[in-house]
Amino acid sequence: PIYNDYFFNESAYDYHDGGYVPLEKYDSPTVPLGIPTLLKPDKETDTDVWLTVHAQAGETQIVPGAKTKTWGYNQSLLGPTIVFKSGKTYHVTLKNSLPELTTFHWHGLDVPGPFIDGGCHAPVYPGENKEITFKVDQPAATTWLHAHPCPLTGWDVWHGLAAMVYVTDKHEESLPLPHEYGVDDIPVVLQDRRFHEDNQWDYDADYDPDGVAGPTALINGTVNPEFNVTTQKLRLRFLDGSNRREWRLHLSDDLVMTQIASDGGLLPEPVQMTKLMITCAERAEVILDFGKYKAGDQVTLYSDDMPILTFNIKEFTPDNTEIPEHLADINYPDVSDPDSLVHQVVMSGMDESVGINGKKFGMMRIDDRQEIGKTEYWDITNTNDCCGGMLHPYHMHGGSFQIVSRNGHAPYPNEMGLKDTVSVNPGETVRIKMRFNYAGVFMYHCHIIEHEDGGMMAQLQVYTPDEPNKKYDLMPMDTL
Ligand code: C2O
Ligand code: CU
Ligand code: CU
Repeated sequence: PIYNDYFFNESAYDYHDGGYVPLEKYDSPTVPLGIPTLLKPDKETDTDVWLTVHAQAGETQIVPGAKTKTWGYNQSLLGPTIVFKSGKTYHVTLKNSLPELTTFHWHGLDVPGPFIDGGCHAPVYPGENKEITFKVDQPAATTWLHAHPCPLTGWDVWHGLAAMVYVTDKHEESLPLPHEYGVDDIPVVLQDRRFHEDNQWDYDADYDPDGVAGPTALINGTVNPEFNVTTQKLRLRFLDGSNRREWRLHLSDDLVMTQIASDGGLLPEPVQMTKLMITCAERAEVILDFGKYKAGDQVTLYSDDMPILTFNIKEFTPDNTEIPEHLADINYPDVSDPDSLVHQVVMSGMDESVGINGKKFGMMRIDDRQEIGKTEYWDITNTNDCCGGMLHPYHMHGGSFQIVSRNGHAPYPNEMGLKDTVSVNPGETVRIKMRFNYAGVFMYHCHIIEHEDGGMMAQLQVYTPDEPNKKYDLMPMDTL
């Protein structure tokens, strides 16, 4: 089948919010879509790779006129794409030249917490360098890096601290899918900003406790972008890197998108659709087939009714490679003990009243526990508090989960792969199966970043049987 709806409850879409900021066309010429460079390792052996990620402030020419003051990794805005090969060990130097502390969170990477994971408890202070070492051992996926100092994650990400992080593996490389970075395999980071006087961003002026948004679509850091298509097939790796916005994507002529991967890697089978909704922090990889177009044609990507990216079709060699009908075996382990308790996460409230299980986040409080290597159910509920409610994109640090059901029904067709973020409709309970492969303290939260910063977040300790009560050096919030 070719699906042509967004699956989620329309009454909860962000455009029903009182504070919704509609996308508007920014009046500036079209520019080439920014394609981040690939981060070059400092050093590399057969088994180990050394990299430096440097958080810094700078200025970026985004729109005509004055440059915008922005933050980025190794550059002034966003960052180069980091590629991790599954099976290798990485030594990453985290460097902070910002005027304030930040953290480096590997969203979607399966690594120990809380320090390597890079959530709230892993500050890197101004002028500091820290080296972390971890082995990457997970299926090929589109993950990302973003800052995560609590409660200022929204502030940091809004300034530009986000970058794509790809994991590659032999299986995915062996499939007949587009693989040429920047040519037929491109990142598409979806964000939005408001340009104030002198083209500056102003987080405080745009602040909304239900999520900060701006009217101008910023795609890979570019406004009004176009991309020259030189191959019949094009792989887009979407990341909703916005603080709040939901992107409801569709193409001119209702061109079909074939989704091949979600947060944690390949789907078991490709899913065809004309509409794709992604919510904060989710990723979706789709393949477009421009076979019916010819040089000179244009294809437009929209979110709702706003054009956000233009594809200029150039000459291409016909390519009728079929996308494999089977992409990956998911093999998520069964629940270890069917009688074990089901973890409960209730997301409630809007604005300043948001919380999880009736509480605001506490840096020093461990809210839940799970043993390493065991698979357990987590029930994630969104209580429908007010006004049609809203979708809360629920995210867990520490690995990937599998979605079992939505209110007892099957997950959506494009949710059959590994996920680390799942949006929950109002009045819904999403059951997931989660296994942690590393010990540590890990956050779980709504990924509308202002909800997370506002306290719709909790943390669990993943323990090993021999150290069930290991003490971690957690960071009290007031150190900020
Ligand atoms: Cu992405 Cu905790 O986040
Ligand atoms: Cu995360
Ligand atoms: Cu939320």
